[in-house]
Amino acid sequence: MDIPLLLFLSITILGLNHNAEGSPFSFREATVHDIRIALDHNRLTSQELVKFYLNEIRRLNPVLNGVIEVNPDALYLAHKADQDRKARKPGSETGLAGIPILLKDNIATKDKLNTTAGSYVLLGSIVPQDAGVVKKLRKAGAIILGKASMTEWAAYRSNNVPNGWNARRGQSVDPYLKSADPCGSSTGSATSVAANMAMVTLGTETYGSILCPSSSNSVVGIKPTVGLTSRAGVVPISHRQDTVGPICRSVSDAVYVLDAIVGFDPDDAVATKKVSKYIPHGGYLKFLKSNGLKGKRLGVPRYSFVGFGNSSETLKAFEPHFHILRKRGAVLVDIVDTARFDTVVASMYNDQFKAMNVEFKLALNAYLKQLITSPVRSLADAIVFNKKHSKLERIEEYGQDTFEAAEKTHGIGRMERELLLNLTRASKNGFEKLMKENKLDALVTPAANILYAISAGGYPGINVPAGYNSNGTPYGISFGGLKGSEPKLIEIAYDYEQATKIRKPPPL
Ligand SMILES: *[C@@H]1O[C@H](CO)[C@@H](O)[C@H](O)[C@H]1NC(C)=O
Ligand SMILES: *[C@@H]1O[C@H](CO)[C@@H](O)[C@H](O)[C@H]1NC(C)=O
Ligand SMILES: *[C@@H]1O[C@H](CO)[C@@H](O)[C@H](O)[C@H]1NC(C)=O
Repeated sequence: MDIPLLLFLSITILGLNHNAEGSPFSFREATVHDIRIALDHNRLTSQELVKFYLNEIRRLNPVLNGVIEVNPDALYLAHKADQDRKARKPGSETGLAGIPILLKDNIATKDKLNTTAGSYVLLGSIVPQDAGVVKKLRKAGAIILGKASMTEWAAYRSNNVPNGWNARRGQSVDPYLKSADPCGSSTGSATSVAANMAMVTLGTETYGSILCPSSSNSVVGIKPTVGLTSRAGVVPISHRQDTVGPICRSVSDAVYVLDAIVGFDPDDAVATKKVSKYIPHGGYLKFLKSNGLKGKRLGVPRYSFVGFGNSSETLKAFEPHFHILRKRGAVLVDIVDTARFDTVVASMYNDQFKAMNVEFKLALNAYLKQLITSPVRSLADAIVFNKKHSKLERIEEYGQDTFEAAEKTHGIGRMERELLLNLTRASKNGFEKLMKENKLDALVTPAANILYAISAGGYPGINVPAGYNSNGTPYGISFGGLKGSEPKLIEIAYDYEQATKIRKPPPL
């Protein structure tokens, strides 16, 4: 009895589009690859695509709060993309041309959209130019659909701001279970793409902000090597740890987005120049291989990195997933030297937050100074603004203790240099040594726990949907590797995804 009803619903809501040739195109759950082909064969227009997503945002966002702003020019840009396509040789477009993308609200766009990191502090600020990654997206022909909601200030105002909450949009909701923690801080990017309110999205990560919401919302997140993607025009936390990456429904979609945003940017010159050597000729699509796990050596940190201390229960529950990896030809290497790495990870954990407080004040002040206009020009101003607008920003409830702790720092002196040196050393003697000594291609952990190993040193990671708990909340599996190891991580993640195909759209 349920089946005909479901079928009926699927026809009415799933957005079937009848084109000139009569065969319907289904937008929902369509991949970038599907859409590329449909656009190239005139079975679909960018305007139809954008209309579908605008409609889904109108329908679902009042409940999910995943989108903070919609681009008023999105349809016009889609119209232009369709005109451009008509003028070109059929099928000559590539990548994201004519495809809409939703951006986390801390990524600057020089258009009608605001860039506020979810806060009233930045509402009304005018950015001098598009962020580096946005320039690349526009060059690739992508359409900026809007801004995704996020944990305010990427969770850097206070530890008490709930994951996915910001003053401007309120609480983002996990589309699988309203009461579940959607994680953060790229919450809206993950929830919106999970719920089909967006085709593809960008998030940012300093400490788990791409990988964790991806895991919690059953989507794929790539946290690129720091410097692989430009951070210019992104509301910063730490130049040492910040990175911009895709959050999408599939590994393939994420790779399409990654291809469009990587590379040198003169406005983030030092980091992007250094890391551009890792970008493979012809891009990353060639690593979507069906035998990507074959022969890969994957480290399973039995007790370390998987949260602190002894996580043998979690690991036991993950045995079926490890079994799949083995079946696909991977060699799983047990990492049993727990004491040493527990110590290293624990020391990194404390030290990186000390370092970030110092880095945040310097970086945020620099970001605020380069704005054309802004309600505030410094972290100190922002703290005063929040006090003045404490009701709007819920300061009494959630506080701004991280802001205040950062404001108390005094730049990079002798102590701070030593701290940063200690952090570099911890990564080299910890994660890098572990990878090299065991000849690993990647480390694998339940959910997004890989973040404990890879954040401080700027290493890349990827999350893939792995399953659903008994109450229906999703969880992922995450892989991390050495700098520039995105090709290997993509091979591993894609093969695992194809072998499991576990992701299902949320029950909305
Ligand atoms: C940006 O913020 C202003 C308020 O300062 C608002 O009027 C405008 O609608 C916002 N832009 C978009 C695209 O929502
Ligand atoms: C972890 O805990 C399990 C029981 O939950 C125990 O059997 C195991 O010995 C512990 N491992 C370590 C390294 O402490
Ligand atoms: C750096 O590490 C050394 C050795 O562990 C330690 O004694 C020192 O206090 C650390 N420095 C800082 C600034 O944390």
